[in-house]
This record gives sequence, structure tokens and C-alpha cells, in this order.
Amino acid sequence: MDTSDPRRLSVSLIDLGEGHEAEFLTLSTHFEAILMRKEYGRAEMLRDEGHPLRFYAVRYWHNASAAEQCHRDPEIQMLTARLYQISRVTHVVNGVRRQDAVRRMLDERRAGVEGDRRTGFDRRVVNLGRAEGDRRKGDRRLGPRRVRDRAGEVDLIAAARRAREHADAAFSNFKVGAAIETADGSIITGCNIENATYGLTICAERVAIFKALSEGHRAYVRIAIVADTDTPTPPCGACRQILWEFGGDLEVILASPRREIARYHLGDLLPLPFDDTFLK
Ligand code: THU
Repeated sequence: MDTSDPRRLSVSLIDLGEGHEAEFLTLSTHFEAILMRKEYGRAEMLRDEGHPLRFYAVRYWHNASAAEQCHRDPEIQMLTARLYQISRVTHVVNGVRRQDAVRRMLDERRAGVEGDRRTGFDRRVVNLGRAEGDRRKGDRRLGPRRVRDRAGEVDLIAAARRAREHADAAFSNFKVGAAIETADGSIITGCNIENATYGLTICAERVAIFKALSEGHRAYVRIAIVADTDTPTPPCGACRQILWEFGGDLEVILASPRREIARYHLGDLLPLPFDDTFLK
């Protein structure tokens, strides 16, 4: 690997709100022009052929400081502020953050066990993946089916309700289902599983995210949690911590078998979180 290559790559997933397409195209043309004019790098907006309102914003930065400068640029900030109003933006690859020693160590440790790390920081532009890509012969998909029909239309709550049916809650009789939506639109579900020791019980949310991690996903958008209560059943402290460390500021949707009850951002449910940024 050529570690001296200064270029950086960022990729974001953009789910555009309906009716904003013309404005979005103007915004991205301006964005691309500024990147070229000010020599920050180059940008490309790719449409997801399967989902007309989903785009991939790919930015190739000349180097990390060009990227940082671009993010501080008021002209760019105006454009991105508007973009956030008309779309949902999920950062999949962030090439801007500088690597610190701990992050590098964690990344290296993870790289050692993961062949397919889809998100990360300080990614090099050079693609070191397999020439034939990660798809298997015949393009058969491993793992979960992609259930998103149109951008923003995933029925995540329905998936969590179905998962809840599988809960093994013989001791508490409190069944919980969870469904996590990954950045590529896959849905991974989980349910709570109890056992005779009680203490080894695992919550639906952690089952879902551990399953997702074990299948190679590294970027998440939302999680739906379903329990049969009329007031919201929020994720427990342990789950908040794990969701934060692996999923970041996810949208958390709480629902019952009958209705959606509340929406939060994980950052609001876990203020002042501890994570690897402290491990210096
Ligand atoms: N539980 C979850 O699965 N998720 C939550 O958000 C709250 C609690 C499970 C753990 C245990 O099996 C049962 O609910 C009662 O605590």
C-alpha cells in the first residue's frame, strides 16, 4: 500500500426529498465548480440506478488539508446547509478526519480481520480491493435482502415487528424486536434472547447491530425498536453505548406492534458519550 499518497476520498449517501431534484442538481453543479476553482479536489454525483432519489456524492480531495479547508469555506457551507434541508445525508467514507495514533491502531486491527471495510477514516483513493469486486459469481447476495423499494421508503418498523416474533423471552415475557438500516439500504434485524442464567440475556438492539457488523456493514442510518408498550420502550444503557460506538448518531424510532410512538437521535439519548476518541 502506498501510504505516501496524499489524496483522500469521501463518499456520502444522499436521500433526496421529493420535489427538490432541480435544486439539488444546481447545488451539486455549484459544489463541483467550487471544488475545481479553489483546487480542493474533484466531486462527482452519481445516481443510484435502483433508487431515483438516492445519490452518491463522491469527493476526491487533493489532500487532507484541502478537504479541511473546503469544509471551512463559507461558500461551501452555504451549499451544504441547504443540502441538509432537502435531503438526508449519510457519510459512508470520511477521508477528512486526520488519523490519530489510536484511530490508526483500531483501523489496523479491524483491517486485519475484515476483508470488506466499507467505511472508515483517512481512506486512500487507491482501490486495493479485489479486481473482480466483492460480488460473488452470479451476483448472488450474501446476507440480508435489500428491501428498500424507493429512497426513504424502507418499512423498518415492520421489519422490527417481524423480528420481535422471534424473541426468546421466556423469563421476562417482554419481547423486543429491532431493525437497523445500513447505509447501503440493507435491513438487519434482531430480537431479545434470554437464557436460564438471566444475566446472559442479550437485547434486540445489540443482536441487530452485532449481526450487521458480522456481515461486514460499517455504516448505519436508523434503528427501529418495537415492544408491546403504549409508552416508548427506549434502548437500555448498554445498547445505547454499543449503538453509539458502532452506529454514531443514529435515528432511533420507537414503536409498538400497533403504532410508531417516538423518534429520537441517539446523541440525545446518550449525552456526553464515552467512545474511542478518549483513548489517547
Ligand atoms: N430488552 C431489549 O431487548 N431491548 C430494550 O430496549 C429493553 C429490554 C429486553 C431484554 C430482556 O430480554 C427483556 O427485554 C426485559 O428486560
